[in-house]
Amino acid sequence: MTLEQDIALMSNKIAVVTGGSKGIGLAVCTALVARGVKVVIGDILIKEGQEAVAALNKNAGNESAVFQYCDVRKYDDLKVLFNVAETRFGGVDIAVLNAGIAIQAGGLFDPMEDESERFIHDVNVGGVIKGNKIAIMHMMKRKGGIIINTSSIAGIISGGGLGAYAATKHAVIGWTRSLEPLQSFNIRANAVCPYWTETDIIKLPPNPDGSKNDFLDVLDASPKAPMEHVVETFLSCIRNEEYAGEALIVAPDGCHEHPRSDLPESCVSESMLQALLEYQPKMLEKTKQKLEEASKAYFSKL
Ligand SMILES: NC(=O)c1ccc[n+]([C@@H]2O[C@H](COP(=O)([O-])OP(=O)(O)OC[C@H]3O[C@@H](n4cnc5c(N)ncnc54)[C@H](O)[C@@H]3O)[C@@H](O)[C@H]2O)c1
Repeated sequence: MTLEQDIALMSNKIAVVTGGSKGIGLAVCTALVARGVKVVIGDILIKEGQEAVAALNKNAGNESAVFQYCDVRKYDDLKVLFNVAETRFGGVDIAVLNAGIAIQAGGLFDPMEDESERFIHDVNVGGVIKGNKIAIMHMMKRKGGIIINTSSIAGIISGGGLGAYAATKHAVIGWTRSLEPLQSFNIRANAVCPYWTETDIIKLPPNPDGSKNDFLDVLDASPKAPMEHVVETFLSCIRNEEYAGEALIVAPDGCHEHPRSDLPESCVSESMLQALLEYQPKMLEKTKQKLEEASKAYFSKL
């Protein structure tokens, strides 16, 4: 697609992007603003976020971006963030739940402490699920929208060294695929799964005992996915109306759709398929009705 075609499609849409103060999130915000999208960045990095917004607005020549402090672990922060998109720009069309960390990414040898164990899950999984639920409230009001969740190549493959991180990123794909049925009422959710990309996160913090995470050697030796392929894949989630419930790998050579695995034949029967056929439209109707009611109640309490 040309930039002009993108602008025709995206101009004046409104996006919320978590983890947008730097790295992949900021690159996505830059591409969105260049296409006429209004962007609300939510992040815990205030100085970086404010500087990013100032640069985006300077380039755009108007107020295209706003920063709002938001810790994605907290519903209250996320509610404020999405509400800023309503009050400053008039609604939410696109939600990019991208904030993520690789602290205690290994898992296996980290201390058996509830609080520290929970941290990576609260940010990488909780931040996505909570953000999606709030995004859906706004998108029901607007009768549609696009959700893009940042997973990772570690959401698809898993090896030694990054167990806890991989668990969170597998969870993001599982959750995103569960939202596929929402496409029947015009909300499309997809997960982007970058291979290693040059940002601060791949500088992996040291282990809790201060020692180096040995996986760094593998990361350093690995090919990298260029940022322009990562950004293109996020944009393709907006452009491609076929995408719903997809997990899109960003490899060094570009975007690859990750095929869904089939169940073994013994898991499926004629009667089960028949029951599923009858269940699905009923489930969809109920889901739509419940979400419409929930959205109205949500805005009446804001
Ligand atoms: N760079 C890679 O190789 C790579 C590969 C696959 C997936 N990812 C994923 O991409 C996403 C973006 O990471 P990145 O590579 O740009 O790294 P990054 O460290 O540059 O950016 C992460 C951003 O998330 C923000 N953040 C962290 N915790 C937060 C919280 N509690 N609330 C709000 N914001 C918070 C950070 O402040 C930062 O701005 C992450 O979800 C990461 O897991 C990165």
